[in-house]
Amino acid sequence: MADPILEVKDVAKYFGGVKALDGVTLSVPRGGMIGLIGPNGSGKTTLFNVITGFYVPTRGEVWFEGERIDGLNPNEVYLKGIVRTFQIPRLFPSLTVLENVLLTPPNQIGERPLYAPIRSKWEKQERELARKAVRLLKRFGLGDYIHASVSELSAAHIKLLETIRGLMTDAKLYLLDEPAAGVAYDMAKEMFSFVRRLRDEEGLTFFIIEHRLEVLMEFVDYVYVLHNGKLLAEGKPDEVVQNKAVIEAYLGG
Ligand SMILES: Nc1ncnc2c1ncn2[C@@H]1O[C@H](COP(=O)(O)OP(=O)(O)OP(=O)(O)O)[C@@H](O)[C@H]1O
Ligand SMILES: [Mg+2]
Repeated sequence: MADPILEVKDVAKYFGGVKALDGVTLSVPRGGMIGLIGPNGSGKTTLFNVITGFYVPTRGEVWFEGERIDGLNPNEVYLKGIVRTFQIPRLFPSLTVLENVLLTPPNQIGERPLYAPIRSKWEKQERELARKAVRLLKRFGLGDYIHASVSELSAAHIKLLETIRGLMTDAKLYLLDEPAAGVAYDMAKEMFSFVRRLRDEEGLTFFIIEHRLEVLMEFVDYVYVLHNGKLLAEGKPDEVVQNKAVIEAYLGG
């Protein structure tokens, strides 16, 4: 594959006798929008956890921009330029929607003890981040909830908020874990088209787990299919949806 930003080489992850991942090799090209699908329990989230340093693989290697990253901790992986969102959003329920979004970006100057008292050092950056946050919130249909408490949001809005928090960072590779789960069809499509625009205009790379195939397949360039911790198939969306093994895996649950 030309210019892979991410390479997963023969990765396995066992939990006792459970082989959550069992020898997965795949790569994600720079600037790609790549799907990762598979039935429940096939190992998708585990793969994201291995890539982002939440789990150390039992076997295998993960490479990002030509550098080996398995064994790094989640914060080190994040600082390399990989950000992930969680299948179950991790938010701060007592804060507002805007505050939750603003808590994400790394390297905020105002958080450095020496600079915190010097307003001019952080004011401009904070204003720019707030502007970016508001733009993303409006784009994702959350414009009316900017100052609402997260506890007032619907499950779908919370899911969207989790994705927005990921997009606030300056990462190069974004791993989104079921961004459209529970989100209404039209909004889900709008979100995916916005993600694709980010990819097109800013050269970002997206690797996306999604059960909502009817939404995902319209937007991604390429799809990997996991089943029982192994790669079952890969290809362009229209090839994968017609693949017999894939259809059987999904029907078999
Ligand atoms: N921390 C853990 N401890 C033990 N078993 C785990 C752990 N994490 C995942 N597993 C097991 O590994 C397998 C793969 O789980 P994983 O969450 O990666 O699947 P998934 O493809 O993301 O599924 P879903 O579509 O339901 O989110 C499952 O059998 C799961 O029970
Ligand atoms: Mg999962």
